[in-house]
Amino acid sequence: MASKNMRVGILSAGGDCPGINAAIRGVGKTAIVQYGMDVVGIINGFNGLVEKETIELYEQQLSGILTLGGTILGTSRLKPFKIVEGEDPRTKPDLIKKHYKELGLEALVCIGGNGTQTTASLLAQEGLNIIGMPKTIDNDIWGTDTTFGFDTAVHIATEAIDRLHTTANSHKRVMVIEVMGHHAGWIALHSGIAGGGDVILLPEIPYDLNLVAECLMERSRKKKPYSIVVVAEGIEKSSKKSAGAFIAKQIRKITGLEARETILGYIQRGGTPTSTDRILATQLGAYAAELIHQRKFGTMVAKQNGTITSIPLNKVGGKIKLVKPDHPLIVEGKHMGVCFGSCS
Ligand code: F6P
Repeated sequence: MASKNMRVGILSAGGDCPGINAAIRGVGKTAIVQYGMDVVGIINGFNGLVEKETIELYEQQLSGILTLGGTILGTSRLKPFKIVEGEDPRTKPDLIKKHYKELGLEALVCIGGNGTQTTASLLAQEGLNIIGMPKTIDNDIWGTDTTFGFDTAVHIATEAIDRLHTTANSHKRVMVIEVMGHHAGWIALHSGIAGGGDVILLPEIPYDLNLVAECLMERSRKKKPYSIVVVAEGIEKSSKKSAGAFIAKQIRKITGLEARETILGYIQRGGTPTSTDRILATQLGAYAAELIHQRKFGTMVAKQNGTITSIPLNKVGGKIKLVKPDHPLIVEGKHMGVCFGSCS
């Protein structure tokens, strides 16, 4: 006997991050316990709908995942609407719609970053009942104050910076740490301030290497034993080297000071989420189930001014939330002598 319960699909797409499983749990448990829905996990992001790869999620599958990093569903960066030479552009979108129907889905929650929310919006325009849920360590999704994954990444990066202080002091070195953030410098800004960075370089603020060098030389003249330089991976797009290696080399070359780089990389995306990310992911997940119950589709759950809310999905696609040059942390940092690589 086919179940008469409303069937809800959940997928996670794009870069993984701590908190995705907490979000899946928030949607799933609320849907099952509060609204008696059936929950279907889609394997490996949108690819799972193209390939019709799913797993039924019962309370048992949702148990014990709140604190688990990564995503139990797997993920992919497949962009089904992307034009691929030699491929019919309708193949993947039509397969997704076909399998959505064959699976008996009446709603689909898409957990992901900017690319995922753009795809989700396009699927909503094709008639699927979509709820978007913002996720990324980069915190660069328009329309929401913060994304889960971000607090954990800042915590990991800050802890790494704390550790660099002691080795930098022992060797009287300049330590350069590169954190993630291709377009937006949110992780670099927050971990740089939290970790006591002397220089913080963001993709949003073009930097002058000579200003950076002068700042470090001035610190050396003041007998400061070492310096910490925090850079976002996206500040340097011209060099074949990583941003961290490029900046460390330039510092050595211009100042003559000893400089070493640390590339923090995927450590920032691993392991258990912080309590802050667990709570945000749970809240967004529970609210997504509520919106499904109210049949308010074509929306993305968000946190605005401390309140869990929703915004039209079609307002999110194609946008990115960047750090503004007059961000309070930048103003306060400058007043304390932090160098952001620019005079302006
Ligand atoms: O979008 C999150 C993110 O971690 C970025 O900060 C980083 O540049 C990118 O993903 C790395 O992508 P991938 O996981 O595909 O190597």
